[in-house]
Formats: sequence, C-alpha cells, structure tokens
Amino acid sequence: MEYLNYIAGKWVKGSGGKTFTSINPANEEVVGQIHMAEVQDVELAVEAATQAFKSWRLMPAPRRGELLFRVGDLLKQKKEELARLLTQDMGKVIAEARGDVQEAIDMAYYMGGEGRRLLGYTAPVEMPDKFGMAVRDPSGVVGIITPWNFPVAVPSWKIFPALVAGNSVIWKPSPESPAISAAFVKVFEEAGLPAGVLNLLLAPGVEVARALVDHPGVRVLSFTGSTATGRAIAESAGRLNKKVSLEMGGKNAILVMDDANLELVIDATLWAAFGTSGQRCTAASRLIVQKGIAARLKEGLAARTKNLRLGDGLDPQVDVGPVINRTALDRIHHFVRAGEKEGARAITGGTVADVEGHGFYFSPTLFEGVRPGSTLERDEIFGPVLSIIEVETFEQAIEINNLSQYGLSTSIFTQDVNRAFAAMRDIFTGLVYVNHGTTGAEIQFPFGGVRGTGNGHREAGQSGLELFTEWKSIYVDYSGKLQRAQIDNRNES
Ligand code: UN1
Repeated sequence: MEYLNYIAGKWVKGSGGKTFTSINPANEEVVGQIHMAEVQDVELAVEAATQAFKSWRLMPAPRRGELLFRVGDLLKQKKEELARLLTQDMGKVIAEARGDVQEAIDMAYYMGGEGRRLLGYTAPVEMPDKFGMAVRDPSGVVGIITPWNFPVAVPSWKIFPALVAGNSVIWKPSPESPAISAAFVKVFEEAGLPAGVLNLLLAPGVEVARALVDHPGVRVLSFTGSTATGRAIAESAGRLNKKVSLEMGGKNAILVMDDANLELVIDATLWAAFGTSGQRCTAASRLIVQKGIAARLKEGLAARTKNLRLGDGLDPQVDVGPVINRTALDRIHHFVRAGEKEGARAITGGTVADVEGHGFYFSPTLFEGVRPGSTLERDEIFGPVLSIIEVETFEQAIEINNLSQYGLSTSIFTQDVNRAFAAMRDIFTGLVYVNHGTTGAEIQFPFGGVRGTGNGHREAGQSGLELFTEWKSIYVDYSGKLQRAQIDNRNES
C-alpha cells in the first residue's frame, strides 16, 4: 500500500519525491510505502490552512459540529477496519486498537456537541445602558504533533476541539504510525470537511516538525511525546510567542495499601502495566506497596505475568503485543541492565522475547527490590517493565509518588474511605484513580499532568477547548453618550 500526504484537500506525494516505509512491529513486514513530506510541503500546508481558515471560521459552529458527528458516524462504521490497520501499523493488541478508535468516536460526538455550546459568558457591567460579554474566537492555524502509541485517540483529542472551534489544522503524526494516520484523515475527507481545513504531513526525522513549529503562520502548537522534544518545541514556541500545549513523559504509580483487595490489585496492575506493552503515557511503571501485602502481591503478580501471551496483536488470544521498534527494545534492555546493576531483581521477564523469530518483543518484567531514587524508580522506560517498591506507611507511598519528576497518573488501592480521600487530596498528579489502575482516562474530563509531564494545559473535556480558542471581551455602549469606565461610575464628590 502507498500512503500520501493530504494538503489543500488533495492526496499528494512529498515535494522531494522520496518515500519511507512503515514496518509492522509484530512481524517486521512492510505495512506500506509512505510518501515523505518535506519542509517545502509545510509551506504549502500553511498556505492551504490559512486560506481555509477564512471561510471555516465563518461556518456556523453548529454546522462544524454536524461535520464532526458525521466523522463520528463514519469512524463507528469503520471501527474494525481502522483498528486492524492500527494494530498492523504500531502493534497494540486488537482489543486495545478498538479502544483507541472508540476514544476518537467518543471525542467526535463530545466535541460535535460543542458546536452548539462553545460557551462564553455575559456579566453585569459598571454603566447603565451598556452590555458586556466574553466570546471564544478560534486561534487560527494550528500545528499538531502526535505520537504513535495512541495514533487515533490522541490526535482526536486535539483535532476535534481545534476544528469545532473554527481553526484549521496541520497534523504531523509519528512516522511510526503513518498508515493509520492517513486512514484517519480519509474519514474527515469522506465526511465532507472542506479542503485545507485539515492537512496531513507524513515525515520521519525532525525537519518537518521543526518547520511547522517555527512557521510564523502557525499560531498554536499542540504536542504529545517525549519530554526532551516537548521542551525543545516550547523553547522555539516561546521565542516566537506561540501558544503551546505539551503532554509528555510519565512515571505513574499504583499505591497498594495493606487492606487492598489483592485479586483486584493484580487484575488492575496487569492491565495498567502491560497494556499497550507498557507504552502508554499513563502506564503504571511503579508499584508502591505496603510491606504487609507485598509478598502475596508479588507472588500472585509474578504467576499471572508469566502467563501473559506475547505475539501479534491481531491474534485475539494474545495479551501483549510487540514494542514499537528495535530502538525501543534496546532502550528497554538498557534500563533492565541498569536496574540489575543497581541491585534490583527481575522476578519475571527481563529479556527480549522470541516470537517466531520476528518482531520486537520484550517479556513483561517485574522488578523487586527497587530503591526510591534509583534508575528504575525514576526514569520513564516506556515498555513492559514494572518496578516494585516496598514501603512501611501510606505517607511514605504518597511521598515517593510525589517526588517523581513526572506527574501524570497515580492510583491507590485501599478499602479505607478516609485514606482514599486523604490520597485524593495529597497525590499531586493530573489524574488520580481509586481502586482502578492508572490508565483509562475518559474523554469528558481534563487529561494532562504536572511537573515534567505538562506545561499547565489540559486536553479533553471542556478544558480541551482552551488551547484552541482566544477569549474576546466585547463591550457595547448603547447610552448614546460618552461613559468613562472607572471614572463616571465612581461617585466621588
Ligand atoms: C496516552 O498514553 O498517551 O487513559 C494516552 C488512557 C487512555 C489514553 C492514554 N485513555 O490510558
């Protein structure tokens, strides 16, 4: 299969005529040849988006919303087909791929509804015969840069609010998931989105992303990916006075108190730690356990972890798919060795796995004896590796959780309602779960993190509109005379 870029409503090759390939990480087979966008194509996309913005912003928002509903309907119809392509492109198991597409369906309808809200507000004003209101304007041309781990869901958190608010979009997805990205854009085309409102650039390397970030015509940037890249984007955006939202690394923890329901903790931990092969930004990578339950929990978890089936995610019997590529395998292996050097012990996994001689598989791994502040406890691994840290008290568990350089998602397992509420108050991450793992955020609530994870913005929910709208305060004086605010309304004589 060949996959093209989408600029000004046309499917086009890159201006340099080059291609790159997308590899299925489950078996190393080629998914497709991808026509590669280059810096010149960024220019074309910005031109197209700038033109399209002129009329898109004037289309009544309820009609923009209806277009999103159509996209939602089509995604629903094509859910299975898209999920299968998604699995082939980046490796997550088919049930999770369906979930990925489902998040986009949910977001399409949620943000479609915003077409009839996009709420502003009025407030009383200081003068007689005067009216004041605050409304939302679209920001203009928006640049969106997304990762491969949620190749449909994460872009949908950005593209749908941007579109319903009246912005035009240039989207640069990860080169590791180009096929599903192109298929996703086709759905917008089929739904009848006007040309130039959504543009797609497929490219490996950093040049195209950098050109998008630096382009003066792109006023807003939304990025999900690594902390190093996010910081670089923010630096450029800062110099150019752009609005930028960053969603970056995580080192999410599950805190387990002695009174927790053991079976539930095991089920939830397996799902949160090894779902998407540990490559969610919300994945649990630390299990901070109170000593009284630690031995039983480790034993139960190890037994269940060993039973997880590795393989091609298209096989419905498979529990854990591959990781994204060979570089990721090497990186995960590097962390495992660093952990061993620091005295942690792998009680299961810890090695690259062989699945019929092809693909990039790492055995789901549990480490015990992990010390706070050590590499395994501190660094984001982005693979199926869970580090177990034992503590005496609830307070220690909270403290270790909060010392992380990241702050996306934390969960606590306890049956003590007082403790659960204290945890909700004292955990400092953007997402908190009680008696549930660290993954599974729903689209109607704000999503994002603190410290090294984010820069103060939130995606999804109502908060997801903030990045893509500018507040405009409007005052209408219908008194027919000069009324001076802050002067005429003071009776100072
Ligand atoms: C991500 O890992 O980038 O909460 C997003 C979750 C999913 C989204 C994760 N709904 O795990």
